[in-house]
Amino acid sequence: MGDTLTITDNRTGKQYELPITDGTIRAADLRQIKVNEDEFGMMSYDPAFLNTANCRSRITFIDGDRGILRYRGYPIEQLAERSTFIETAHLLIHGELPTSTELDEWSEELVTQSTLPENIKHFIEGFQRDAHPMGMFLSAVGALSTFYPDSKNVLDGGSRQTQITRLIAKVPTIAAYAHRYRTDAPYVSPDPNLSFVGNFMNMLNGHPPGGSESQYRPHPELERALDILFILHADHEQNCSTSAMRGIGSSQADPFVSLAGAAAALYGPLHGGANEAVLRMLAEIGSVSNITGFIKRVKDGERRLMGFGHRVYKSYDPRAKVIKETAYRVFEVTGKSPLLDIALELERIALEDDYFVSRRLYPNVDFYSGLIYEAMGFDAGMFPVLFAIGRTAGWVAQWQEMLKDKEQRIARPRQLYVGENDREYIPMDQR
Ligand code: CMC
Repeated sequence: MGDTLTITDNRTGKQYELPITDGTIRAADLRQIKVNEDEFGMMSYDPAFLNTANCRSRITFIDGDRGILRYRGYPIEQLAERSTFIETAHLLIHGELPTSTELDEWSEELVTQSTLPENIKHFIEGFQRDAHPMGMFLSAVGALSTFYPDSKNVLDGGSRQTQITRLIAKVPTIAAYAHRYRTDAPYVSPDPNLSFVGNFMNMLNGHPPGGSESQYRPHPELERALDILFILHADHEQNCSTSAMRGIGSSQADPFVSLAGAAAALYGPLHGGANEAVLRMLAEIGSVSNITGFIKRVKDGERRLMGFGHRVYKSYDPRAKVIKETAYRVFEVTGKSPLLDIALELERIALEDDYFVSRRLYPNVDFYSGLIYEAMGFDAGMFPVLFAIGRTAGWVAQWQEMLKDKEQRIARPRQLYVGENDREYIPMDQR
């Protein structure tokens, strides 16, 4: 019989043999299964894509049961320990770690592209000072599309590379400018002499040249911690925002608007907005003595334990492990977050409690990242923006892979229509 699946349709008694490739059947092969010839044919029904592969990908591998995450075959732990974010971005986009010449060229290109068009600065100034930075971020990324009409040439490999570089280079500047505007501080232009992350920190916390303030220098331990966080967030295969990036990009929309849509998907509290939600939750719990009461509310279904659980990981998220270690190194510089004790106790109780154990709910990447960001002085609203800076590398890598994949077409799921059948229009006086 080989690698096939035999299906018997008990409505008709007919048998069908479907090929199995990589442990998967093609949903389109089900269409031959029908009772009458004029029927559409069988579909698979999979709300929220719990069990549907939408693409073949070579970028990120996850084994959720064993807690394994690899980018292009490299374990996340090794990348977090030995790589930098821009090397990792190169790896995700091109498939290989850069040679030293390639890295020099890539760094140079990123520096060159890191400035923003003047009008984008004014665009940012159109927001209210207390606007959520993620709303500012995704709007500004989308607005960049109007400055780069060449980005519409999505089928041209050279143009794609230009837009990829622009996006990775400009997202930290947008994030920093949104932060500066919200805090009523003057913009600090990119400094070509600093590293990718050092430059970002300088744009956030530094001073414009010519002032009386002493020069800002990012603390090396904090700079490295942020670099590690960007690496950990860089890609995570077909999650909600990446699916949005691929879905929007599949209509051949340009990558700026596609990425704005991906960032919007990331913004939600069940996805990249969870880091912000975790911090607010820890602050709301307020003290270790309130944890038991909070856990009861979670178990009663009144609350969600933010930063816990994952669609794919059914064991400890390997990124959470690295983040927890990084948090301790950051706290040595900044002092311990008062919320750390609450987080540790919450984790301890949750890992022993049958509600969480039986559902295989473990801390995810967002559980400790907010504590690091907070210790580094970030406002909670900036947390999803920081996630988006790292994830931009994955979004553009996945977008490019989708466009080069001959099997891909415009994304267009089917539905099961369960609404009213054909009916006559009812005039207003008879409703
Ligand atoms: N707190 C309490 N119960 C939970 C949680 C949680 N955080 N997560 C899942 N459950 C329960 C859920 O109620 C369900 O219980 P039951 O079987 O009794 O109905 C069961 O566990 C399975 O959960 P699910 O909702 O079917 O899982 P999902 O795969 O649809 O959702 C998730 C995954 C990440 C959205 C969810 O776990 C969640 O809401 N977590 C909190 C938000 C969060 O931390 N998000 C960040 C995810 S990691 C970063 C990223 O990549 O975005």
